[in-house]
Amino acid sequence: MHRTLSITCLAAVIFCAACAKRPSEPQGASQGEKGSVTKQEFGKTAQGQPVDLYILKNRNGVEAAITNYGGIVVSLRTPDAKGQFADVVLGFDNLQGYLGEHPYFGAIVGRYGNRIAKGKFSLNGKTYTLAKNNGENSLHGGLKGFDKQVWSATAESKPEGQVLTLKYRSADGEEGYPGNLDVTVVYTLTDDNDLKIDYAATTDQDTVLNITNHTYFNLTGQGKGDVLGQQIAINSSRFTPVDAGLIPTGELKPVAGTPFDFRNPKAIGKDIAADDLQLKLGKGYDHNFVLDRKDEGLAPAAEVTDPVSGRVLQVWTTEPATQFYTGNFLDGTIKGKGGVAYQQRFGFCLETQHYPDSPNHPAFPTTTLKAGQQYKSTTVWKFRTAAAQ
Ligand code: BGC
Repeated sequence: MHRTLSITCLAAVIFCAACAKRPSEPQGASQGEKGSVTKQEFGKTAQGQPVDLYILKNRNGVEAAITNYGGIVVSLRTPDAKGQFADVVLGFDNLQGYLGEHPYFGAIVGRYGNRIAKGKFSLNGKTYTLAKNNGENSLHGGLKGFDKQVWSATAESKPEGQVLTLKYRSADGEEGYPGNLDVTVVYTLTDDNDLKIDYAATTDQDTVLNITNHTYFNLTGQGKGDVLGQQIAINSSRFTPVDAGLIPTGELKPVAGTPFDFRNPKAIGKDIAADDLQLKLGKGYDHNFVLDRKDEGLAPAAEVTDPVSGRVLQVWTTEPATQFYTGNFLDGTIKGKGGVAYQQRFGFCLETQHYPDSPNHPAFPTTTLKAGQQYKSTTVWKFRTAAAQ
């Protein structure tokens, strides 16, 4: 099952306009140097399961550290416009941090990214009851989702880049979901400074599935303040408004004339405090943006530029939507890397996905994965630079 759509020409034009300040090609390539992938111990889970940290490094010095606990992107070091490297993702220095309560820093989220209303859905005439972990709703897979599982891992240097392959079998009934589900997530760091995430899955019973990655980015560098000055463009002319429980109402609302219009680049903070019911309900942006597409394939979803460092992140995906979340629930109680208190809006997430609560909205693109069908989804984070201001 390749549940993908693609952008309209108009949207492509708008998006290109959004990217008018052309980012440069990958920086700092020292020709001849090779990429590498190394593995080190990262600690043990509370049950004593050993967990590793894989360091993927490309020939430009870009480095992604990913653990097979939750498939979490622990750190991601990319160059700024002057070639200075910084870690651009929020998280912890050690496994201990990730074993405690945290809002899905860097993690693979599943089986179902975002919320399923009242933790219930029906499929083939049968009602399934899920683990509720967000008031009356089920969020990001339930109490013990993919983010808290130990995945089996293989790391290799390949011609296309440094590759980490993670596998996990989610047993029939796990967190209430039907079917034995075999999931593979492949992270590839290329010499073009792209980190590609390929998701694949099969099931032995019809089920629902919506996998994503929940990395919080701060392009100035993690822990270096809020992201309100970073400029974002989202290739989306509609979004899904939510109710007080952050469940989509079912409406696809045009962004035109609202604070949700990011078709041209705009500072994340420009309209975030506007007098708008949706922003109040989300405590900021915490909404699903429907991407403008016309057919299947990898297409641009969003581009974020940091005027301070000149770092640019372009997100491409085969998914029909992206959740844009501005770290609204961070409140300084979590001490992240280097002991820094992560305050509200210290990071943003672009969780490429199907719409939240799709199993309860027949009009939304389907998230049903049928027995024997192949689930496939790809998202690419392209790290580029533009001149800093
Ligand atoms: C959700 C937020 C939630 C955050 C952390 C986002 O995907 O939309 O409401 O607080 O994840 O769990």
